[in-house]
Amino acid sequence: MDDKSRRDVLRGGWKLGGALLIGAAAYTGYEALRPLATSAGGAKITVGKTASFEKDTSTYVPAGRMYVVNANDYIFALSQKCPHLGCHVPYCESSGRFECPCHGSIYDLSGEYITGPAPRGMDRYKVTIEADNVVVDTSVVEPGPAHGAKIFLTPPKGPGCIGKA
Ligand code: FES
Repeated sequence: MDDKSRRDVLRGGWKLGGALLIGAAAYTGYEALRPLATSAGGAKITVGKTASFEKDTSTYVPAGRMYVVNANDYIFALSQKCPHLGCHVPYCESSGRFECPCHGSIYDLSGEYITGPAPRGMDRYKVTIEADNVVVDTSVVEPGPAHGAKIFLTPPKGPGCIGKA
């Protein structure tokens, strides 16, 4: 292989690498900006009596891929999907917060953003109380609260699960 054809091959490699980088950046941008999908399938789900969601608790509802939480006596249905890149965000019993193991975003019990690369708090489904039942409409998704919202912010109960405050 002469110098000219070797240069052409290297140039082609850089072009391919650049194209892959641009593709990855475009996909990341699309994921961050695309309209919210309803991962729970858009169904209305009766998740239980209001009294079964005690103050400052989180209950996982697999049928809706969501958490129903009672934060300071306000009930929220939070999508399990991290608003950063979509990982399932587990609830950390010791801190009483949601802590994403993928890149370290942390949310309080109401899903408000605390720290990490997430662009907002956890997304919320519409909740209504019907005949003392908590009903979640998974076809209606409200984007999570903006950074610094601090409307329902709850303090941590104790140490975190992913090594952050
Ligand atoms: S997917 Fe949760 S912090 Fe990145």
